[in-house]
Amino acid sequence: MPSKAAIEAAKLSVAPMMDWTDRHCRYFHRLMSSHALLYTEMVTAPAVIHGDRERLLGFSAPEHPVAVQLGGSDPAQLAEATRIAGDYGYDEVNLNVGCPSDRVQSGSFGAILMEQPALVADCVAAMIAASPVEVTVKCRIGVDEQVPEQVLPDFLRVVSEAGVTRFTIHARKAWLQGLSPKENRDIPPLDYPLVHRMKAEFPHLHLSINGGVTTLDEAEAHLAAGMDGVMIGRAAYHTPADMLLEADQRIFGARTLPKTAHQVAEEMLPYIEAHLAAGGRLNQITRHMLGLFAGRPGARHWKRILSERAHRDGAGPEVVRAALDAVSQFAA
Ligand SMILES: Cc1cc2nc3c(=O)[nH]c(=O)nc-3n(C[C@H](O)[C@H](O)[C@H](O)COP(=O)(O)O)c2cc1C
Repeated sequence: MPSKAAIEAAKLSVAPMMDWTDRHCRYFHRLMSSHALLYTEMVTAPAVIHGDRERLLGFSAPEHPVAVQLGGSDPAQLAEATRIAGDYGYDEVNLNVGCPSDRVQSGSFGAILMEQPALVADCVAAMIAASPVEVTVKCRIGVDEQVPEQVLPDFLRVVSEAGVTRFTIHARKAWLQGLSPKENRDIPPLDYPLVHRMKAEFPHLHLSINGGVTTLDEAEAHLAAGMDGVMIGRAAYHTPADMLLEADQRIFGARTLPKTAHQVAEEMLPYIEAHLAAGGRLNQITRHMLGLFAGRPGARHWKRILSERAHRDGAGPEVVRAALDAVSQFAA
C-alpha cells in the first residue's frame, strides 16, 4: 500500500549507499531536512531473515520517512524480508536492481536483474502480497549490451503490471564485466533525456531520477521537467549542507528558516552523547559529518580535528565542540 509520507518525501531522496547511509548518517541528514526520504544501505533478504535484525534494520523514530533497500532475487525470501521490514516500521521497501558488484552478481541480484524483468515481477508481487508496506524498485537504464530505449520501457511495464507504481532510475547503464562498482557510477554516460521520456510514456508511474545530481538547482530542474522525484547519492554525503539545508524550503515549500551547518553540529551532540553512553564510539557518527562544512569557511579545520581525534579511545562530544570552535574562529 503506498505510504503518503514516503511518496511526498520521494520528491527528494538520499540514495541507499553501502557503508555510508547507516542509521547515524540518516539521523544526521534528517536534522538538515525533515522532509526528504532517506534510504538505508542495501541489506540482503537472507541477512534480514537469518542475521542480527536489530543491527541490520534498527533505526530511530526521527529518521522517518525512511525506506529500507533489499537485495535478492528469490521471491519467497524477499517476501519474508519485506514482512519483517514492514513490521519494523519502514515506510517503504525498495528492491535493488542496480548494484553491479561481483558479490551481488554471484548471488544473481542487483543490476543483473535488468535482464530478467519477469523474475523481478515475481519478486515484487511476492513482496507486495507479504506486507502492507509500499514496495518500490531502484534500477538502471540497462546493463552491458542491452539497448536502454528498448529494455527500460519493457522493464517498467512488466514490473509495474506486477503492482509497483514507484521507481527510481539511475540514469546510466551498469557494465557487469570490466568495470568496478565505483567506475560503474561514473563511466557509463548519463542519459537524462531517456528517463524524462519514461515519465512521458508512463505518466501514471511515480518516477525519480538518479545519477550525477550535485546541486539543488539541478534537482529543481528535473522536477520542473516533469520528474516526480530526484534521488541524490554522493553529493548528499560529501556536501550535505549544500544539498539538504535548503531542501525543505526549496523542494517541499516549507516556510521555516533553513538551519545553519553550525546548528546541525550542535544538534548532533545529544545524539552523540546517547550513542557513547550506550557503548558506541564517536567516530561511528562523526565519520559521516566530515563534509558538513564543505565549501564553507573553516572546513579544513573541522575535518582535520574530527579525523585526527574522533577515533581515539574515550573521544567524546568535546572533540566536536573543539572542531566547531575552530570553525567559528575561522569564520569570525
Ligand atoms: C559508497 C556507495 C555505496 C552505494 N551503495 C548502494 C546500494 O547499497 N544500493 C544501491 O541501490 N545503490 C548504491 N549506490 C549507488 C547510489 O545509490 C546511486 O545510485 C549512485 O551513487 C548514483 O547517484 P549519485 O551520482 O547521486 O551518487 C552506492 C553508491 C555509493 C557511492
